[in-house]
Amino acid sequence: MAKITASVYTSHIPAIGVAIDQDKTDEPYWQPLFKGYEFSRQWMQDNTPDAIFLVYNDHATAFSLEIIPTFAIGAAAEFVPADEGWGARPVPKVVGHPELASHIAQSVIQDDFDLTIVNKMEVDHGLTVPLSLMFGQPDAWPCTIVPFAVNVVQYPVPSGQRCFQLGQAIRRALESYDEPLKVQVWGTGGMSHQLQGRRAGLINKEFDQAFLDRLIAEPADLAKMPHIDYVREAGSEGIELVMWLVARGAMSDICGGPAIAVKHRFYHVPASNTAVGHLILENN
Ligand code: DHB
Ligand code: FE
Repeated sequence: MAKITASVYTSHIPAIGVAIDQDKTDEPYWQPLFKGYEFSRQWMQDNTPDAIFLVYNDHATAFSLEIIPTFAIGAAAEFVPADEGWGARPVPKVVGHPELASHIAQSVIQDDFDLTIVNKMEVDHGLTVPLSLMFGQPDAWPCTIVPFAVNVVQYPVPSGQRCFQLGQAIRRALESYDEPLKVQVWGTGGMSHQLQGRRAGLINKEFDQAFLDRLIAEPADLAKMPHIDYVREAGSEGIELVMWLVARGAMSDICGGPAIAVKHRFYHVPASNTAVGHLILENN
C-alpha cells in the first residue's frame, strides 16, 4: 500500500521562479527568502518520495473561462511547463504517474468527489515554482508527480471544508493503492496577497501566522472558515490558501492516527506582492 510520509506547503510566486532561473537568489532582495528553503532542500534530498500529489492552481494557463474544473487530476504520462509571459521556464518536464492518478480518481470519485480527469495539460508557476523551491535546479525532477488543480480563480471556488474532506479521501485512495510507494502531498499557493483593485499589495502578517498556527494545531476548525474571511483578511488571492487544507486533510492525525511532527516553518515578507509561507509536516 502507498504511504503518505509528509506534507509540504509553500507559496508559488512566479517572480521566485524567475529569480532562480536568472541566478538572482543571492541578491539582497531574494537571499533571505531562499535561506528559508535551505533546510527544505536538504530535507527533500534525505526524504525524496516516489511520488508527489501536488495540489496547486492553474492561472488561466491550462484552463480558461471556457472550461472551469473545480478539481482536476492530471493523469497524463507527462506535463510540459507553459509559457506565462516571461517565457516557458527552463525547468524539466513533469513526469506523471498515470496508474496512481487513475487509482486516485477511481477511489475519490467513488467516495463522492467529482473530479475532472485531464489527460493533456500544461503546468504553470503554480506547480513549477514549488518544485524549484524544494528541489533546486536538477536536470530531471527526482520523482513522479500527480498534478491536482483546484479552481481558486473564478468563483464559485470550493470551500475550505470541501478541500479538507477531499484531502481525507485522497488519503483513503493512497492507502488502497497496492504498491509500496512513498508519497508526499503538497498544498501550494497563498499566503496573503491581492494582485488587483484598490487593495492591491495587501499583506496581513497576523492572519498568515495565525493560519499557520491553526493549520498545524486545529485544521478541522480552520477548515470551517468561509471564503469571505480569506478575501477580507488575506486579499483576493489569499483564497489560494484553501489548497493547503487538501494536503492537511491527508495527514494521519486527522483520522485518529499519531500526531504529526512540524519539521520546518518559515514566513517571509515580501516576495513580489506576496507573503511567503512554508511548512513541512511529517507523519509519525
Ligand atoms: C504573484 C502571486 C501569485 O500567486 C501569482 O499567481 C501571480 C503573481 C505576485 O505576488 O506577483
Ligand atoms: Fe497564484
